[in-house]
Amino acid sequence: MVTWCKFKMKPKLFITRELFPDVIKKLEEYYDVEVWDRYQPPPYEVLLQKAKEVDALGTLLTDKIDCNLLQQAKRLRIVAQYAVGYDNIDIECATRLGIYVTNTPGVLTEATAELTWALLMAVARRIVEADHFVRWGEWWRLQTGWHPKMMLGVELQGKTLGIIGLGRIGSRVAEFGKAFGMKVIYYDKFRRKDLEEKMGIEYRELDDLLKEADIVSIHVPLTKETYHLINEERLKKMKKGAIIVNTARGAVIDTDALVKALREGWIRGAGLDVHEQEPLDPNHPITAFKNVVLLPHIGSATYETRHRMAELVAENLIAFYKGEIPPTLVNKEVVNIRKPGFK
Ligand code: NAP
Ligand code: GLV
Ligand code: GLV
Repeated sequence: MVTWCKFKMKPKLFITRELFPDVIKKLEEYYDVEVWDRYQPPPYEVLLQKAKEVDALGTLLTDKIDCNLLQQAKRLRIVAQYAVGYDNIDIECATRLGIYVTNTPGVLTEATAELTWALLMAVARRIVEADHFVRWGEWWRLQTGWHPKMMLGVELQGKTLGIIGLGRIGSRVAEFGKAFGMKVIYYDKFRRKDLEEKMGIEYRELDDLLKEADIVSIHVPLTKETYHLINEERLKKMKKGAIIVNTARGAVIDTDALVKALREGWIRGAGLDVHEQEPLDPNHPITAFKNVVLLPHIGSATYETRHRMAELVAENLIAFYKGEIPPTLVNKEVVNIRKPGFK
């Protein structure tokens, strides 16, 4: 708090969680930085109070940056999100108010695509279930050693992978699919004819993709259009032996419908890195299924990627400080409302 007086001339920046010390140090050359150093996110009231006091915010996807907060943040000029997804931020409202919003695209594509593949394979080959089988003594108790029918899963080669949202992460997951000898089909808002040819993949309407794919992997952002995109009706269209994987946002799937699908055996299994409510309640019915692998939203969680994300947050904030358009600006139209910088 005392440092605020010391660096009075620098714009104030509140970052809602500890980033890497070298990145904070770089930011301190330009900003009077305050970091929320607890493991839990700041409560909304704290966030609102801070937003009213600062010129810049560094946010996480757990921070609700709604219009109420933005309207009261009279000095706020930029929100630099430490994530590629920004469904926690009211972009339209920020743009109207001339507040810049940046995110961290690209630098986390590889990590998230790799995690998607790990999750997909974990479900296909029952990795978590098999680990429990060994660890908790069931294998020992049965004294079978090797058995022809023990823990059988499904093979990927020759199967069809259906990508929903062929963006940065979706297309990388598609490439992995090709490397595994899978047929790859995709659905997106727009057809990507260039990628179809380059990657040897095919476009399908969503319902056709769901009918055809053995593995469905979700990579669309959460928007009004994608909320509960995968609902009961669509889950019913999937193959009985199919697996659904979600590393995008929990609310793209209607979780109640997914529980019903699993309970009634409409599909083989699911791999979920993201959930409608995070943290997921351990008593949630989805936790009862052995054929579901659950992760705590760790798509981008590698040392390399998290550091690159922090660097990109800093690059955006520093560019803005210098009066430049931040490299990964989300609301590009905001430049017509206000010039970048604090002048
Ligand atoms: P991206 O490059 O923007 O890809 C998203 C794709 O979905 C784009 O091709 C986009 O098309 C398409 N799309 C948007 N709305 C659609 C709709 N209504 N119907 C069909 N397709 C639609 O984003 P990305 O970098 O791959 O990231 C994708 C998402 O993954 C993020 O938004 C984030 O929520 C999530 N994510 C999760 C983790 C994790 O930790 N699990 C990590 C990183 C990202 P247009 O470009 O034409 O809009
Ligand atoms: C993580 O979920 C992100 O959107 O970066
Ligand atoms: C399995 O371990 C095999 O040798 O086939």
